[in-house]
Amino acid sequence: MPIVHKGTVVENKKVGSYFVLTATAAEIPNEFKPGNFVAVAIGDERSSLILRRAFSIYQVNDRGVYGGTIDIVVSPHGPGTDYLANLKRNDAINLVGPLGKPFSLPKDPVPCVLVGGGYGAAPLFTLAEALTARGCRVDFILGASTQEKLFGMLEARRISTSLSVTTNDGTAGQMGLVTDVLPDAIKKSNAAVVYACGPMKMLQAVAEVAALHGIVSQTSVEESMACGIGVCMTCVLPIIGDDGVTRMLRSCVDGPAFRGDKVRWQDIGQIPDDTYGAPVPGNH
Ligand SMILES: Cc1cc2nc3c(=O)[nH]c(=O)nc-3n(C[C@H](O)[C@H](O)[C@H](O)COP(=O)(O)OP(=O)(O)OC[C@H]3O[C@@H](n4cnc5c(N)ncnc54)[C@H](O)[C@@H]3O)c2cc1C
Ligand code: FES
Repeated sequence: MPIVHKGTVVENKKVGSYFVLTATAAEIPNEFKPGNFVAVAIGDERSSLILRRAFSIYQVNDRGVYGGTIDIVVSPHGPGTDYLANLKRNDAINLVGPLGKPFSLPKDPVPCVLVGGGYGAAPLFTLAEALTARGCRVDFILGASTQEKLFGMLEARRISTSLSVTTNDGTAGQMGLVTDVLPDAIKKSNAAVVYACGPMKMLQAVAEVAALHGIVSQTSVEESMACGIGVCMTCVLPIIGDDGVTRMLRSCVDGPAFRGDKVRWQDIGQIPDDTYGAPVPGNH
């Protein structure tokens, strides 16, 4: 069950283009599973913006001196993320979580490739630990537009068998996209599953590469959210069910991780005509 937690900021550290914000969050670490996110209030009780903002949970710690804490990675680019980037130690912070369905883990100890785009890498490190604990080989690919937008290279190197890095401008690793190196990583590790989190275009491309290689992908989508708890339908996207029928599913409660081959990437932002319950043209 998600809970509202009135916490305080323990640390807010600049890392490359991002801020890694640690906040007290008493019960969240115990409930947490890799792939969960939190919805963070922006502003204080008198001045807050109406909508909370969603952030993947990057790390949890249930034993530190502050009790339970969580870390999120903030990429400042708008009013909410700018507000969080400017929070200081001991400032109040209001979180709801853990939210969303966690990543599905394979039953058998199969090789997995984890692909993170920019701050999208954040939820993949606890996932890597969970996979390793099950005996899965983990290979990492991190990509970003430029070097300072890469996140978690040292950590990825530490917890994986191999790390490949790409940047669009060639300032770190291979110049290009994560999908340029993904086929090789799949072949070398004999991967059975690809997990990905990052921009939607990257997720679509990763899902296509995985499908070409006949393996499963799990993509954690970043669809705009409002309530974060399944009530408002802001975050819906068309997903093909096991019965072949497309339904508009809520990424906040049915996701954010979906099988990449089940997401109708081209139709995101619309309700395709063949969707279950889609409006019939002419019927009002
Ligand atoms: C499950 C989930 C996990 C996320 N994890 C992180 C994270 O770890 N770190 C992080 O920095 N951000 C993360 N985000 C994205 C973040 O929640 C949004 O970008 C949020 O809107 C930022 O608030 P803002 O007020 O700064 O910008 P806003 O004013 O809300 O938006 C600024 C710009 O970003 C666009 N935008 C808004 N929301 C989204 C969205 N969800 N996807 C793509 N573009 C959007 C807007 O159209 C606008 O152009 C996540 C989102 C989701 C749904
Ligand atoms: S954000 Fe409201 S239903 Fe998903």
